[in-house]
Amino acid sequence: MQESGVRRTIVPDQREYRLSEVISALTYALDLTEGQPPGHTLRATAIGMRFAEELGLSDVDRAAIYYTLLMKDAGCSANSSAVAAGFGSDDAEVKRDLKTTDWSSTTECAAYAWRNAARGRGLLQRLGHFTRIAAGGHGLARELVRVRCHRGATIATRLGFPETTATGVYGLDEHWDGGGHPDGLKGEAIPLSARIANVAQTIEIFLTGRGAPAAMQVARDRRGTWFDPALVDLCEGWRNDHAWWTDLLDEDLPARVQAMEPSDHIRIVDDEGLDRLAEAFADIVDAKSPYTSQHSTNVAHYASSIAAVIGLDEATVRTVNRAGLLHDIGKLGISTRILDKAAPLTADEREVMAQHPRFTWSILRRVGAFRDFAWLASLHHERLDGTGYPWGLGGTDLDLESRILAVADVYEALTARRPYRDGLPVEQSLMIIRKDTPFRYDGDVLGALEDWLTG
Ligand SMILES: [Fe+2]
Ligand SMILES: [Fe+2]
Repeated sequence: MQESGVRRTIVPDQREYRLSEVISALTYALDLTEGQPPGHTLRATAIGMRFAEELGLSDVDRAAIYYTLLMKDAGCSANSSAVAAGFGSDDAEVKRDLKTTDWSSTTECAAYAWRNAARGRGLLQRLGHFTRIAAGGHGLARELVRVRCHRGATIATRLGFPETTATGVYGLDEHWDGGGHPDGLKGEAIPLSARIANVAQTIEIFLTGRGAPAAMQVARDRRGTWFDPALVDLCEGWRNDHAWWTDLLDEDLPARVQAMEPSDHIRIVDDEGLDRLAEAFADIVDAKSPYTSQHSTNVAHYASSIAAVIGLDEATVRTVNRAGLLHDIGKLGISTRILDKAAPLTADEREVMAQHPRFTWSILRRVGAFRDFAWLASLHHERLDGTGYPWGLGGTDLDLESRILAVADVYEALTARRPYRDGLPVEQSLMIIRKDTPFRYDGDVLGALEDWLTG
């Protein structure tokens, strides 16, 4: 696995991709945001499809379950900031713990709130957060779930999935006994795809965290409260299917999950479709913090505009645009507590933050359709004098596209509002970049940005 060195950006080939294939690869980024181990979404999808198979469902219903599970966490970043602020802790940790907590039990709920209130801080701070969480109670939980599910359903619709996907994603946290969120639906009023997705994701979480017996036990413990009793009875038959449980953890699972997609519903995405997909995931990234609400979209716009002014060909401009949209996808793996921090970061926090371009690279290189610019996207904090991060590359290592991305990213960061300051005026931002040119930034690229701004 090569992690540094000169690599040219490659313009996209004209291959067509299955929508589900691209999204499957991107679910690893959503797993990060939810604090789940890599592959969580795909394993949950495989579990859900076993329910579908044993229930003898039609292709239409199987498609609803398949896409609901693939898209179930698309709204995950929408409540990250509220979770981090409300609990005073790392959002991914709080979310991870929630997934193994029976939050319909008052005792478990109180213990959960105490465990997660201002983790690692002093007693007074912990008490303060705990009191606020307790005062918010179910209303707070309902709102956090609503924001997340609504956002996920909206993204599913925007990507052209059938309405059943949106309703499945929206109903993911409803419980059979009516104690769930966001609408407190009960029994068969909850879409079947949501009922299956809920039990499938819970089985997956307990499987990877505590093993198959614990996964079966949690299904049984929540039979008739969280979960549809008929589904729990069905999966009782899986108890001794050791080969199946083992296969769920196998490395070839992504290929097997792809083969489970109902064939009549397979959708192929062309270049336009890939652009829309990159835009949707840019929004997921930007939604993680209120201070980056337009960052990725703006960087893509600035970078592709600079590339066009320089005269790069259409395919390269498109590549630069996609790299701009997804350059910070690695931030899905960074705690929102750090992203939203109003004070200067500590040395440890800076080190964590500096990992995000590495995460970007490791996420995008899994995605066949986006692999060509995975490396480029990871270079946006590199500087010509070698003082950038995370790879510490220098001038000759950095191609024109990466120099464009670096200028677009810093220009957007300077002009946008941040937790610790308002956005700077255009001229002041350009002055700051000029001071570091040509030592850290490319003079031709800065000139193209200035031409574009004044043109
Ligand atoms: Fe970044
Ligand atoms: Fe950025």
